[in-house]
Amino acid sequence: MYSYKSLHAEQVRSVQDEAVVRLLERLMPAVVNPKGLDETLSIMLEACVEELGYLYPSVALLYMRGDKLVGQVFSSPSTWDALRRTARLTQLPIDNILGRCSERRSASRVASGNADSTAPIGRPPCHAISYSLALPDHPVVRTFLERRPHVTARFQDIARPYLEAEATAAIERALGIRSMALLPLCVEEKCLGLFIAARPAAQPFSAQDLSTLQVLSAQVTMAIESTRLRDNLRDREQQVHLLLKTTIDAQEEERERICLDIHDGVAQTLASAFHCLQTLDSRTDLPIDSHTLVRKAAKLVRESIREARGVVMTLRPPALDVAGLVPTLRFELDEIASQTGWLISFDADEVRYPKPIETALYRIVHEAVTNVKKHARARTVTVRIKHIEGHVVAEVRDDGVGFDSFAAERQLHRRTVGLLSMRKRTELLQGSFDLVSSPGTGTRVAIDVPLLAF
Ligand SMILES: Nc1ncnc2c1ncn2[C@@H]1O[C@H](COP(=O)(O)OP(=O)(O)OP(=O)(O)O)[C@@H](O)[C@H]1O
Ligand SMILES: [Mg+2]
Repeated sequence: MYSYKSLHAEQVRSVQDEAVVRLLERLMPAVVNPKGLDETLSIMLEACVEELGYLYPSVALLYMRGDKLVGQVFSSPSTWDALRRTARLTQLPIDNILGRCSERRSASRVASGNADSTAPIGRPPCHAISYSLALPDHPVVRTFLERRPHVTARFQDIARPYLEAEATAAIERALGIRSMALLPLCVEEKCLGLFIAARPAAQPFSAQDLSTLQVLSAQVTMAIESTRLRDNLRDREQQVHLLLKTTIDAQEEERERICLDIHDGVAQTLASAFHCLQTLDSRTDLPIDSHTLVRKAAKLVRESIREARGVVMTLRPPALDVAGLVPTLRFELDEIASQTGWLISFDADEVRYPKPIETALYRIVHEAVTNVKKHARARTVTVRIKHIEGHVVAEVRDDGVGFDSFAAERQLHRRTVGLLSMRKRTELLQGSFDLVSSPGTGTRVAIDVPLLAF
């Protein structure tokens, strides 16, 4: 048998449980797929107002700096509206409402926005805070250090020592709050900050409220952590991207420099030596056996010139800069066709593209064709390079043995770099790379690069 009181408590509990379930449903997308931290927290805090009716929920992200606990406070848009209204009602500047603990306006990556009373409504601002650790009894400091929830019946407990009693009373009246709950946001041994919510004086926080707030704090902590992890991951990706780009650019520059050095240095010297030997060979006053030696030397010099040219061609064919991508590839593919007997179809628009694109496309097509040579046992090869609506689209297709491209690209600890470098070079140009192959079906490499950025 339920007494009226326990029945009422049960009903309250089930209403609250339903609200919590609704709240969790609303929070889930923000936890699973967080956007920016301010946006994620804004969604969470506003849902907390709408579903559970808590007043002025805020999240303080805190860390220790010297003898201070510093950080930033994020509040829901409706909390900021209330603060602005209170500033008008009490005629206190908004900085005073926030407390003199406000040190500076936030400008960090995770905490965009500001505490300006003219900030547009709907965009969640945040403000910086700083508490002295020399106040171990202060609820904010205590909750952070002890990592235990804390409920205080008086707003002034939190406002002190930053707000004068008169201002605190005016704010308390204007906001209609007294009871405040502070919950630590903990990840393992680390406290990231506090979740803070308020209640009107007539409705202090119950034990049920506290357990609800704990569930909520866990969600907020997860959202903060996943946002941080995502931001860290994005930072790392950008660093790797930058590193790769710098390495590839440096490699191309180095190759160009070596080509020039060989062309203007060794190759020129060898050409002069060859010319001298030819002049010597044309003299009639030389003994017969000297002619034999001179011709032998000339042959060796000619061989060295050919090798030097070969190195230049492998490093970076001069035609790429002079004539451009399409004529360079056409020449090389003709050579390959005559060496291998393949049927090569080359279909390309006679267009000059920006140098980074020509270089990357040359390297990609070159690697794809080298792969055909090394692995495909193909008879027919098709190469297309087309200029289509602000994009350059390239394709290398063969009718060879094919391979499991899905497995090859996902293979961890692989030692080969050809496929990876083709993909990365395309990504550096903000393009898309597609590799399709399976045993027995030949292979198709397709690249689509936008020209807009150049
Ligand atoms: N056109 C192709 N036909 C058949 N197999 C291919 C083709 N292209 C790639 N492969 C397969 O994919 C593997 C990976 O290619 P990748 O270019 O990354 O490495 P690689 O050519 O073996 O070495 P490298 O690092 O010198 O390029 C190859 O070893 C080969 O088994
Ligand atoms: Mg390769």
